[in-house]
Amino acid sequence: MRARITGTGSYMPEKILTNLDLEKMVDTNNEWIMARTGIEERRIAADDECTSDMAVIAAERAMEMAGVSADQIDLIIVGTITGDYPWPATACIVQAKIGAKKAFAYDVSAACSGFLYALSCANDYIRCGHGTKVLVIGAETLSRSIDWTDRNTCVLFGDGAGAVVVEAGEDGAGILSCHLHSDGNYLELLYQPGFGAKHPASTAGVDSRLQFLKMQGNEVFKVAVRSLTEVSIEALEANGFTHADVKLFVPHQANRRILEATAKRLHLTDEQTYINVHKYGNTSSATIPVALDEANRQGLIASGDLVLSAAFGGGFTWASTLLRWA
Ligand code: ACO
Repeated sequence: MRARITGTGSYMPEKILTNLDLEKMVDTNNEWIMARTGIEERRIAADDECTSDMAVIAAERAMEMAGVSADQIDLIIVGTITGDYPWPATACIVQAKIGAKKAFAYDVSAACSGFLYALSCANDYIRCGHGTKVLVIGAETLSRSIDWTDRNTCVLFGDGAGAVVVEAGEDGAGILSCHLHSDGNYLELLYQPGFGAKHPASTAGVDSRLQFLKMQGNEVFKVAVRSLTEVSIEALEANGFTHADVKLFVPHQANRRILEATAKRLHLTDEQTYINVHKYGNTSSATIPVALDEANRQGLIASGDLVLSAAFGGGFTWASTLLRWA
């Protein structure tokens, strides 16, 4: 038995924040952002919109494509680091909103690798025979964890949600492998210092801006390219394939330079590599399901195609999934 993706969906908020808008907010300019990141604009959630709202729309679109109704779903997993509340899980809120009465639900916190970690959980759940229909979502409202006075980080990120329906199927098409890695020694290169148990919410913490994402971009860049390359090769070699067999590489959309450096090391062409980071920036766990949905709806992936996906994020965490499109 294999777990296969039978439906994809995504939702991006309406509000667009361009590089020109950012020029008015911090000491930056369009040329710098384009040269260093390739990001032209990003989407920002409306004031009354949060992670579960975007997740629900993406999920409903994926379920519609799969022809699966909410009451058939066994399990909902949401990859997110910007859930509606510190707890409970945003997946439970999604479960209630879509009316998936029999589903149990939990979140996965693996930063930008969150979607591939969640997809791996769905794969294991289905292959163990526990259930047949899982909703896997990557959704983020990063705009509320970003310091909009910090030019080093605020130009990079955006909001959005993507979802897939994963169903049990016969051997053949479906998820061929998932490879997951973590290294907590890199914690302080990319993290949100407050307001968890270590630094609970406090006025002093707010004054020190502990509630916002902190990053050492240079260091992250180097480890990201190396890890994305290694974990992609790991997936191909484990299944006896080479770069030439890949129809589409759908990487985590961090920024164009990371994607191009990784694709080059993997000997993948522009045609083999899906990039949409110029439109949305880095939406963390949402980037891969959003990109998969766009590529799917544009007809870039057909039944039988080999699709490689890889992610890297805070933790550090990194992961790859290789699948034969159903
Ligand atoms: N506009 C103008 N100048 C800026 C900006 C900005 N928005 N941000 C930083 N600078 C300045 C810096 O202050 C610095 O100035 P200085 O030399 O006077 O000190 C100069 O630009 C160079 O800064 P660096 O940080 O060395 O620039 P770098 O070439 O490394 O580019 C970037 C920065 C784009 C963040 C890069 O390091 C990067 O892409 N890192 C990966 C980060 C990432 O993608 N993180 C997302 C999470 S992890 C993941 O998703 C893979």
